[in-house]
Amino acid sequence: MKIQYDAEQRFFHLQAGEMSYAFGIAPDGRLLNLYWGPVLETPQALSPLVEEVLRPFQSSGGVDQNTPLNFEVPTREPWDYSDPVLWVRHPDGNRGLRLLYHSHEIVNNQLNLILRDEHYPVEVELHYRGWGDLPLLTRWLTVRHSGNQPLQLQAVKSAAWHVPAGLDYRLTHLSGNWGCEYTRNQLMLTQARTVLQNTRVTSSAAQQTPFFALDQDGAATEKAGEVYFGMLHWGGDFNITIEQQFGKRVSVTGGVNEFDSDYVLQPGESFETPEFTGGFSTRGFEHMSEILYDWQLDALMPRGQKSDKAHATRPVIYNSWYPYEFSVDEENCLALIDKCAPLGVELFVIDDGWMPKRINDRAGLGDWVADPARFPHGMSAVADACHAKGMLFGLWVEPEMVNPDSELYRAHPDWIIQIPTRKPSLQRHQLVLNLARDEIRDWIIDWLDQLIRDFHLDYLKWDMNRYVSENGWPDAAIEDQPSLSIRYTQNLMSIWKHLNEAFPDVLFENCAAGGGRTNFAMVPYADRINRSDNADPVDLMVLHEGFSMLFVPKTAGGAGNIAPAAHHIHQRPTPLDFRVHWGMTGSMSIGINLLTASEQELTTLQGAITEFKRLRGDLQDAYVYRIASATKNPYALFQYVRRDRGAFTLFAFAHGMRCWNLPMPRFRMRGLDPKAVYCCEDGRSMTGEALMNIGLSLRLKGDCDSVMSVWRRQE
Ligand code: DGJ
Repeated sequence: MKIQYDAEQRFFHLQAGEMSYAFGIAPDGRLLNLYWGPVLETPQALSPLVEEVLRPFQSSGGVDQNTPLNFEVPTREPWDYSDPVLWVRHPDGNRGLRLLYHSHEIVNNQLNLILRDEHYPVEVELHYRGWGDLPLLTRWLTVRHSGNQPLQLQAVKSAAWHVPAGLDYRLTHLSGNWGCEYTRNQLMLTQARTVLQNTRVTSSAAQQTPFFALDQDGAATEKAGEVYFGMLHWGGDFNITIEQQFGKRVSVTGGVNEFDSDYVLQPGESFETPEFTGGFSTRGFEHMSEILYDWQLDALMPRGQKSDKAHATRPVIYNSWYPYEFSVDEENCLALIDKCAPLGVELFVIDDGWMPKRINDRAGLGDWVADPARFPHGMSAVADACHAKGMLFGLWVEPEMVNPDSELYRAHPDWIIQIPTRKPSLQRHQLVLNLARDEIRDWIIDWLDQLIRDFHLDYLKWDMNRYVSENGWPDAAIEDQPSLSIRYTQNLMSIWKHLNEAFPDVLFENCAAGGGRTNFAMVPYADRINRSDNADPVDLMVLHEGFSMLFVPKTAGGAGNIAPAAHHIHQRPTPLDFRVHWGMTGSMSIGINLLTASEQELTTLQGAITEFKRLRGDLQDAYVYRIASATKNPYALFQYVRRDRGAFTLFAFAHGMRCWNLPMPRFRMRGLDPKAVYCCEDGRSMTGEALMNIGLSLRLKGDCDSVMSVWRRQE
């Protein structure tokens, strides 16, 4: 990113690849936003805007009510009624801030500006960070309090984004529930506030992914049109407010949710908000995805020491959950390991059910030792068996939770989130540990470190299966109790950070009852995501579309994306070949009972694993183009294109085809080198131009039909 400051006209221009962003300092010191949109090659282009927006602005003379006041940090300044980014209560009872420019510095591709309140001892530092040439800008702020009495933060968001005014915008967001995460919703804005949020404390993404996109007139498509978008790096209670004011002035504020989250800053303390990254695509939603994939793979994703985890392929996994649920033991695990190795499985994972009394979901959470009755030689015996066969070994944990029927709860009944005057409510028979408390964070770090070391874990699946509605923290000072949801998420993230630093080569899976924590705060720490507990291959036709808008294919996991014949959600029998193709689209994991599988099924799986290993280098870091959507058709087409455009694989899935869906149209490919010749493994060859303009014809019929075709650029 290029950061320019025009000292004469007092404005900043941030050029991030094909995107520009600008704001200026008004004569009285307030910061006003000037521009966000297509790149301006020369900062002089902003001069007319500077004249128009900054010069006439005077705080004291009053402004006409139609003057747009796009504050860089809205704090309910005079005549600004938009959603404030910051709202505080001072010790004298007065509320609000009036922030004036004090100074700035540009260090290492980052702009930091200091603003100070004109009266109170509060300083706010705004941070702006770029990512090379990617059209992305990450913003956050730090609030510092140097008074001598506590300051109450009542709303502390990360940033406000303003899009060009006077236009009609469509909002795109991803929402849903357990089993149907990332459903794409689109609505035209009206003069109203639209709030995307979470107030469930532990996680958010199943109901609402902390993401928004805006396009003009609802006209952007996958392939074309300008799209403004943003991702909040916060998976706890968050709030993204999209506000259209009179005159079609549209702004987006986002950050920690102000609901029940007052946070007290003691003298000398500071608060750093989560990051909020905004981006701009000139070529529709698929270019937005390309930008986000590049960002994840080249900047955000975890790096190991032994190998570059971000770019390394993910191992083929066998997971015990779907076939065995809570009835895992040494005998069946060792038998499974014997079956897995010859198939080519590379990582064996014991899911839930390995602790004492954990024979169902009513007991055992909190007691993180292997059940001596079912694992008489300890978990190390299973780990050793895996390693002896050349496989990695992984284990499931749910560190934030406790069952009332556990040694942990009997020893520490006060450790849970609870309102002492009310009976604690159970969800999935479990309670939530109060991770806002630092001693609980430290306890989790201690036992996790030991578990990873003692069991020689190569992989850890972190699960989380319930929300919080009774945000009680009786041991904290009354004024600190509402900070629970903020401190909970801060401590959660600090554990994930610790694990990555302490075990740089262990693979970590982000699971929260499926995709409950699929957000950009987790991307730097998790090598794999449980996309959803719904591995039904027909539902995946829709689910994967939403997931692939934001997240790279190699992270698309789950307990078994090659699911059992009748996955539990619908009990719909589906052919193995259809499920195998789904395994190829992500981080392959097998959730089939290998001890009861037929020889033919085992042979199919072995073939699928061999084929996947041959192809995964082309698939796992590929851009995913959504060629046809199952939300409109009885079929879904995903084209995986290597980032160097050297190869592509087309996956087509159909279900519920009817005669009038036949014949199907020719499907135009995307993202190829037009001049190159691409050769299909079935012998066909076509130029990139022909593939993208004439397209490919396909035959798909009936139910659960699928096709996979692999094409490589001729060298
Ligand atoms: C929910 C997860 O999403 C599943 O994959 C599995 O780990 C279960 N929890 C275990 O309880």
